[in-house]
Amino acid sequence: MPTVLLLGATSDMAIAIAKQFGAHGYNVQLAARNTKQLTTIESDLQVRYNINCTSHAFDATSFATHQTFFDALPVKPDVTISVFGVMDEEEDAWGNWQLTQRMIDTNYTGAVSILNIAAKYYMQQGNGTIVGISSVAGERGRQSKLIYGSAKAAFSAYLSGLRNKLAKTGVHVVSVKPGFVYTRMTEELKLLPALTAQPAQVGKAVYNAVVNKKDVVYVKWMWRYIMLIIKNIPEGIFKKLKL
Ligand SMILES: NC(=O)c1ccc[n+]([C@@H]2O[C@H](COP(=O)([O-])OP(=O)(O)OC[C@H]3O[C@@H](n4cnc5c(N)ncnc54)[C@H](OP(=O)(O)O)[C@@H]3O)[C@@H](O)[C@H]2O)c1
Repeated sequence: MPTVLLLGATSDMAIAIAKQFGAHGYNVQLAARNTKQLTTIESDLQVRYNINCTSHAFDATSFATHQTFFDALPVKPDVTISVFGVMDEEEDAWGNWQLTQRMIDTNYTGAVSILNIAAKYYMQQGNGTIVGISSVAGERGRQSKLIYGSAKAAFSAYLSGLRNKLAKTGVHVVSVKPGFVYTRMTEELKLLPALTAQPAQVGKAVYNAVVNKKDVVYVKWMWRYIMLIIKNIPEGIFKKLKL
């Protein structure tokens, strides 16, 4: 049976992705800062899908622990999915370097740190799949997503470069740009239902992307075109918009 590793497994999106892989016969490794929060989902996945599910302590910003974390996994995963992320209020982060650094360290540096380790392992094996949950917020810098967007832009560029680096090694890299999703991260925001996905839709999109070897996935198709328009607004106009 193949195994999938979810990094940031307490997130609503990660749980939905875990259910999709579990339903298709994958064993599941759940990795999060607080493993106590994983107890219920771990037993639920095991009972529901009759799979092996394990929990592992993982902090994206404890970079020095990442190699030990990966080495200690009882079975090396066939698919590694980076879901963790932080989106603080940009106005709060503007006045607080700690919040700014936390967004950069979690959304970008932490992801590069752990995915480099998985990528090197997969390169040696000559197979494996890496999935990164990035964001459409990384497609063009905007004031409302100043730091979060720039960290996701860096993460998207990293995933693209990694896909290019590994293309001939048998290792596949998927970039996921979900658009809005109803999760804990967005529960305070007023989101347009037509543009907002449920976590289960993300789960399906991620599973299908892995199986069908897709490179870049937008969960709701309209986001590809919305971002195409946003990316093509001339800078002279764009810089004056309140976006
Ligand atoms: N929701 C959206 O509209 C949306 C849109 C585009 C992209 N995304 C991205 O989708 C991903 C999942 O987010 P979500 O919407 O499901 O939000 P969420 O429920 O708030 O999940 C965020 C997850 O990141 C984990 N995390 C934060 N810092 C961590 C660290 N240092 N080490 C390990 N885990 C850490 C959190 O764990 P704790 O439980 O320990 O806090 C939590 O499980 C994120 O990368 C987010 O940027 C979300």
